[in-house]
Amino acid sequence: MDSKIKTLHDKLALAKLGGGQARIDKQHQKKKLTARERVMYLLDEGSFEEIGALVTHRTKDFGMANQQFYGDGVVTGYGTVNGKLIYVFAQDFTVFGGSLSETHAEKICKIMDLAVNVGAPIIGLNDSGGARIQEGVRSLGGYADIFYRNVQASGVIPQISAIMGPCAGGAVYSPAMTDFTLMVQDTSYMFVTGPNVVKTVTNEEVSSEELGGASVHSSKSGVAHKTASNDVECLEHIKTLLSYLPQSNISRPDDLPFVPAEELRDVLSTIVPENPNKPYDMHQVINGIIDVNSFFEIHKDFSENIIVGFARLGGKSIGIVANQPMFLAGVLDVNSSKKAARFVRFCDCFNIPLLVLEDVPGFLPGTDQEWNGIIVNGAKLLYAFSEATVPRITVITRKAYGGAYDVMNSKHIGADMNFAWPNAEIAVMGAKGAAEIIFKRDINAAEDKEAMWKEKEAEYAQLFANPYSAAERGFIDDVIEPQYTRRKLIKAFKMLEHKNVDRPHRKHGNIPL
Ligand code: HXC
Repeated sequence: MDSKIKTLHDKLALAKLGGGQARIDKQHQKKKLTARERVMYLLDEGSFEEIGALVTHRTKDFGMANQQFYGDGVVTGYGTVNGKLIYVFAQDFTVFGGSLSETHAEKICKIMDLAVNVGAPIIGLNDSGGARIQEGVRSLGGYADIFYRNVQASGVIPQISAIMGPCAGGAVYSPAMTDFTLMVQDTSYMFVTGPNVVKTVTNEEVSSEELGGASVHSSKSGVAHKTASNDVECLEHIKTLLSYLPQSNISRPDDLPFVPAEELRDVLSTIVPENPNKPYDMHQVINGIIDVNSFFEIHKDFSENIIVGFARLGGKSIGIVANQPMFLAGVLDVNSSKKAARFVRFCDCFNIPLLVLEDVPGFLPGTDQEWNGIIVNGAKLLYAFSEATVPRITVITRKAYGGAYDVMNSKHIGADMNFAWPNAEIAVMGAKGAAEIIFKRDINAAEDKEAMWKEKEAEYAQLFANPYSAAERGFIDDVIEPQYTRRKLIKAFKMLEHKNVDRPHRKHGNIPL
């Protein structure tokens, strides 16, 4: 028996070594943790249970029969993060560059199936040279098996991907179909075709970093939801993100104990400037409302004219969508609509109530926006809000103009509670532009055109640059003083806690993708 136990220990020791010490050292030289170190850092101490540590590939071609590594380039299993069950896979770059073989894919699929059947989040730590070149189509099949499961799991359990090394070719599509993609600065990249292919096809010279590094994907493409300066920070981000999420679509995020829940926040009364054309930082409003230091921003550097992220309000997890007057006056455009729509849909899948903070002058005009499909992309946000059945509350902090008023979680598209601050302007457009259009004749006929314009602008502002016309019709449920906003929201979300909406059966809607 002793010798049999020794055999087991020897095999497990080999599995722990992955591709060997030399390759582990190389990984460390690149300032990357190994797959196992990442798993151990992510999970609560002592909680990791490995599955499939002794799996090996089945390839015989290209001398592969002599190159066997236990685990086959991916560490898979389950454990807990802050006491909650999660499933994890971590690709091991020290074994064939973390490349994906048939058996490597089978290991990932096995824990994806478990995660869906049990109902717990799955975390993928990606660090891979892509398809195992020696395995050809078997590897491609393995990828497709994972893609298929990503889609079946979508909206059922949270799926989080961290890119902690190369991620190229079709391999990028698994992370892209998960709910959140995090990238590590300088050591990770994602692209469908690498710099060499780009050079051959388009004659463009570009580095891996410029083509698909973390900063590109967090600011230009929006592929990455969050970036980290190193592996440890990335894993910390995942832990924080998980703390706002439920285990699956049939559960709710855990509440944190919170006292006191209802204090006034005077700071909210001083943030919005008197001059309606002056910018202010909507982060100040967010932080003025939520539990202290609880905002976890998503897509921070992408389309900064809208802010999305998770927070705690009275200890409960909420999703926030907020126009940002600091960038492009908080206008809605192609990217901000896509960014917010995706976030709204995530929150709706996973029972996370939505708070919308609105200060929006409308949709961004121009050929660039029209040619890039502001119509279809703006419709995504409209659709996402309209289909969401989680508790939804809007606070208009200043402007709510034009179509953007409708889109930003208005009462008409199913919001539960709509509040406005006393300085809110809810109108088809700003008073100046409105006066120019509807009083054109009077202005042109006047001796002092400028004075007449001003007079008509004031007339229009008097009528519509306020929240009362909307409140009279019940489009706004209450006009509230800013310092009471937190108290009002905590009560309203509490009131909505057991909201339950049944939609008529359908296979699925047809969101304008
Ligand atoms: C098998 C691979 C491999 C792969 C790397 N290795 N990629 N083995 N299949 N795809 C092995 C190397 O042979 C090497 O083995 C070890 O991993 C480390 O690789 P290095 O090249 O030494 O590392 P580095 O210099 O850091 O470069 C990493 C890399 C490069 C940029 C990822 O290895 C590379 O370009 N690999 C090929 C990438 C690729 O074209 N993949 C296919 C993409 S197409 P030793 O024994 O020396 O340690 C694809 C299709 C998916 O993925 C489709 C899904 C639908």
